[in-house]
Amino acid sequence: MKTIKIVNTASQLPEKIVSNDDLSKIMDTSDEWISSRTGIKNRHIAVEETTASLAAGVIKKLLLQSQVDPAEIGFIIVATMSPDSTAPAAAAKAEQLAGLNGIAAFDLNAACSGFAFAFTTASGLVNSLDCKYGIVIGSETLSKLVDWQDRRTAVLFGDGAGGVLVQAVDEDERLLASDLKTLAGDADYLTAGFLPRQGWGQKKLGSPYFQMDGHAVYSFATRQVSRSISDAFAKAKLKITDADWFLLHQANQRIIDKVADLLGVSQKFFLSSLKDYGNTSAASIPTLLDLSVKKGLVKRGQLIVFSGFGAGLSVGTVIYRY
Ligand code: COA
Repeated sequence: MKTIKIVNTASQLPEKIVSNDDLSKIMDTSDEWISSRTGIKNRHIAVEETTASLAAGVIKKLLLQSQVDPAEIGFIIVATMSPDSTAPAAAAKAEQLAGLNGIAAFDLNAACSGFAFAFTTASGLVNSLDCKYGIVIGSETLSKLVDWQDRRTAVLFGDGAGGVLVQAVDEDERLLASDLKTLAGDADYLTAGFLPRQGWGQKKLGSPYFQMDGHAVYSFATRQVSRSISDAFAKAKLKITDADWFLLHQANQRIIDKVADLLGVSQKFFLSSLKDYGNTSAASIPTLLDLSVKKGLVKRGQLIVFSGFGAGLSVGTVIYRY
């Protein structure tokens, strides 16, 4: 069985930056409320960009940096809960925009756990497709799922894309464990993106915009992420203190700090990009990884932990030797 090695990382953010002060001009909120409760100061918001164009930007950067021949790439997975259309998939459109053709491209929706689910899927796919390389991206334009009148959710989200080029390798010490769960009984605590239904007298199923029970999601995230990380370390037969860095889904700094406390790990090992990006769902872990690699924080040989959580309610942890 082959496993996957991350060859390189890339990210693509929309040009427009919206600050907390900008938001306080259009809704009853303040920089003080948002930053003290979430750690967020700014977020990128797509104007011209789309989920597919951001993902295509990531693909182009990955290929340019690595000089890999596109003919050797077996698949492109775009983890997203905000594709531009149901069909074609964001991955198919991104492949087209990146000037590629003939690569298996599909979307995977596990909401904010999407990158952990897609990365784990990629490790199986390199075996079943017997290919040399694959691309795993998280790309989101959540701004279109936001009700800009609703201060309880609008201040939390941002747009962006990040991804990795992976290579199939015969190494035991790469993807050390994955723990993926969907607690579907709690699915209704966080929803978005119901499509309109018409004709045949069909009933509306839900809102197109984010609907969230913030307290329930906070309590789910802190309990289940710490449990998922512990379960993944048990599977890998490693100690939590073996980890060099934790890259959690960037939803709220308070959630990250609480998970660190529950695990008994110093908060300084938990990387963060919340201040500048907000919650970008499936894009948050790969953009944070790219940022942290480029800053020289995440280095070859280190043990890193990805842990996503969100709608579903889903939670997914990957322990990986970078
Ligand atoms: N600006 C100003 N006031 C706001 C506000 C905003 N953007 N949003 C809510 N408020 C108000 C509320 O109306 C409430 O006012 P009231 O006391 O007069 O009723 C008050 O602030 C407190 O609201 P509350 O919901 O109790 O705040 P909180 O401390 O629980 O923080 C969240 C709210 C959303 C930040 C927090 O619950 C959270 O982080 N939950 C997890 C959400 C998440 O991460 N979701 C994505 C997971 S992928």
